[in-house]
Amino acid sequence: MSHRRGALIVLEGVDRAGKTTQCKKLVQALRKSGRPVEMLRFPDRTTKIGQLISAYLEKNYNLEDHAVHLLFSANRWELEPLLRQKLEQGVSLVVDRYAFSGVAFTSAKPGFSLEWCMNPDVGLPKPDLVLYLQLSPEVAAQRGEFGAERYETSDFQRTVLQRYQHFKKDPSLNWQVIDAAKSIEDVHTEIKTHSEMAIEAVQYQPIAELWK
Ligand code: TMP
Repeated sequence: MSHRRGALIVLEGVDRAGKTTQCKKLVQALRKSGRPVEMLRFPDRTTKIGQLISAYLEKNYNLEDHAVHLLFSANRWELEPLLRQKLEQGVSLVVDRYAFSGVAFTSAKPGFSLEWCMNPDVGLPKPDLVLYLQLSPEVAAQRGEFGAERYETSDFQRTVLQRYQHFKKDPSLNWQVIDAAKSIEDVHTEIKTHSEMAIEAVQYQPIAELWK
């Protein structure tokens, strides 16, 4: 590859870990240092599929568990051409949740294996860096009540947290655990350092495929 590509940077973690705040701060900081960067989030609730997912999360619409898992994945695939295009144009992407949320949340439901949950996302652009914002359920609870959306209960989030641990052991992923109990500024500094390193490291590498 003769020209530079952007890096795919994903933020993951349980609810209340501060992912959205950190994504926004990271985008601002990278822009300030002159790097082309855009933010995305999954689910992207603006598409037709995203609207179905949103209605499901808001409990206005019921979907069978396998079906909704596939919709979350389809929501990533419908944006795959855009992701790829941006990365190839040299734009780095900061993404609030990705396939790891898909696997951690669905596999927290009874009867779902990790393997089944991973399958639909195999082949998506592979993140160059995953920043996993780690927060204990106790500290998460101190940050206020959960909202009213589906999945926003302490018991379910506890299981999700366990499911996320699987990815830590995957040597094919650049999975960085960040202590999200630290101050917003300290977390930001750590995230920014990892992100700048990833952007530099992958600029002349081809985009890899997830779980392939
Ligand atoms: P958020 O828009 O507040 O991040 O919430 C999205 C919810 O959807 C959150 O509870 C995590 C869940 N989710 C899945 O179950 N599967 C997925 O693939 C993604 C991206 C999110």
